[in-house]
Amino acid sequence: MQQYPYIVTISSEKGGVGKTTLASNLAIYLKAMREDLAVTILSFDNHFTIDRMFELKGQKLRGTVHEMLLGAPASDLVHTGQYCVGYIPSSTELGDIHERFKGPMTLTRIMAESGIGGIVIIDTRPDLNILTQNALYAADQVLIPVKDMPSLENCKNIFALFEQRGMDKKSLALIPCLVDERIKFDGVFKDQKTLLRAFAANRGYRCLDTFVSKSPKVESLNTNPDGKIYPILTHARGTEVHGQFSEIARDVLRNLDATPEPRSFLYGRWLAEKEDKKKQAYLARLEGLAEYCLICGEPLAERPDGRGFYYETSDRARRGFLHTDCFADMLCATLYGMTSTSQAYGAARLVIAEKAGKLVTLLCPTMANGSFRIDFRQFDSSGEQLFQKDLTLSGFSEGEFDGVNDRLYLLLNEALSGYEGKPREGVWLAVHPVDAKHPESVLGDEHYRALHHVQARIGETVRPFGRQ
Ligand SMILES: Nc1ncnc2c1ncn2[C@@H]1O[C@H](COP(=O)(O)OP(=O)(O)O)[C@@H](O)[C@H]1O
Ligand SMILES: [Mg+2]
Ligand SMILES: [Zn+2]
Repeated sequence: MQQYPYIVTISSEKGGVGKTTLASNLAIYLKAMREDLAVTILSFDNHFTIDRMFELKGQKLRGTVHEMLLGAPASDLVHTGQYCVGYIPSSTELGDIHERFKGPMTLTRIMAESGIGGIVIIDTRPDLNILTQNALYAADQVLIPVKDMPSLENCKNIFALFEQRGMDKKSLALIPCLVDERIKFDGVFKDQKTLLRAFAANRGYRCLDTFVSKSPKVESLNTNPDGKIYPILTHARGTEVHGQFSEIARDVLRNLDATPEPRSFLYGRWLAEKEDKKKQAYLARLEGLAEYCLICGEPLAERPDGRGFYYETSDRARRGFLHTDCFADMLCATLYGMTSTSQAYGAARLVIAEKAGKLVTLLCPTMANGSFRIDFRQFDSSGEQLFQKDLTLSGFSEGEFDGVNDRLYLLLNEALSGYEGKPREGVWLAVHPVDAKHPESVLGDEHYRALHHVQARIGETVRPFGRQ
């Protein structure tokens, strides 16, 4: 079964508030507290702290977050690292990715399609660029470290962003970080964390119950002769921060357990439903197609690669494919009175067929002085009219063929006749060129929408018989 990750994003527009420390150590605590939980971490920052912390010596890398954002399957990029935490390597090349990253939901989609399960922790840059926004929208839980008033002031942009998008702000939580417990105040707000909490509450921001103390021990973990970054879990056991991180990890696990359907799952389901609707619509379109070429009467299955045109009546009642040859021959006769017995037929037909292969052809029955005529027009693929001709249809109403327009009569009869063989009132027929290699692709969502755009434009200009 496809897996979907629960996503925790660490974000703050301020640098140096403890984002990366929180992200990387949280990953380690989560894994330590629940061994069977897959924990993956990635960072959109370019300082490689995550990499220094998690990469195994001599590990060969298969790609970075850059490749992930360019569309490589995310699960292929997860490297199992130190402490059994999976990480996607960082990249210095994310600066130019912004242009390709137009939508705010791109990362949610990447995660929904990744097949990565468990928890994904995303460390972000100290800004609110489109990548950070993507990380915020993808998150089931956003942790916003704040260490002082300026960083607290700054979070209003994150809250405003959620407000603007109509997203649930319940997933956002502040966490006082780098709290110096030696600082005490007189009065109600007796220390830093109480003060920050009070200000946060005043602005309507939710805070985690826990906070992270400032600790010289923790600060020293990334300054050592080995150039390594040591985890709090193993190298700062005796500190308060150790207990605080356990508390934060427990909180995240509680939220994880209370979320059977994470955002990536919901988004994935929505995508699948959308895709399914498209498929159903496509199958329904395929369903109503005529099984034979209306001009020669031959079953299309017998010569499937000869299908070069698709026709549809304005009431959508008759739809299907025509052989390229049959339609080209019909045009030769209709436009120039040429049949295959004419001289120079081959050359003329080639030219006509090539032109028709690019144009949309309209056949609209009209009535003048009691006799049927055809308003014949050709349009370019945007619906711009390029050609018009008025054709008489002698013998058509009487059910006689005239030797030249036989193919046209057959087509009109088959496509436009209704009750008791009479032409359906107000109905016209348009013939569209299709890719003979994949004729059915014309029924694909986008293609079909474009075709109907042209049909609609044509519909605005015609006056078929029977329509007032
Ligand atoms: N609890 C802590 N006590 C002391 N120093 C800390 C603590 N958490 C982080 N630091 C230090 O603060 C600095 C900034 O932390 P970092 O996690 O890189 O913040 P950010 O990712 O927000 O820029 C680093 O030098 C880090 O070692
Ligand atoms: Mg950082
Ligand atoms: Zn045919």
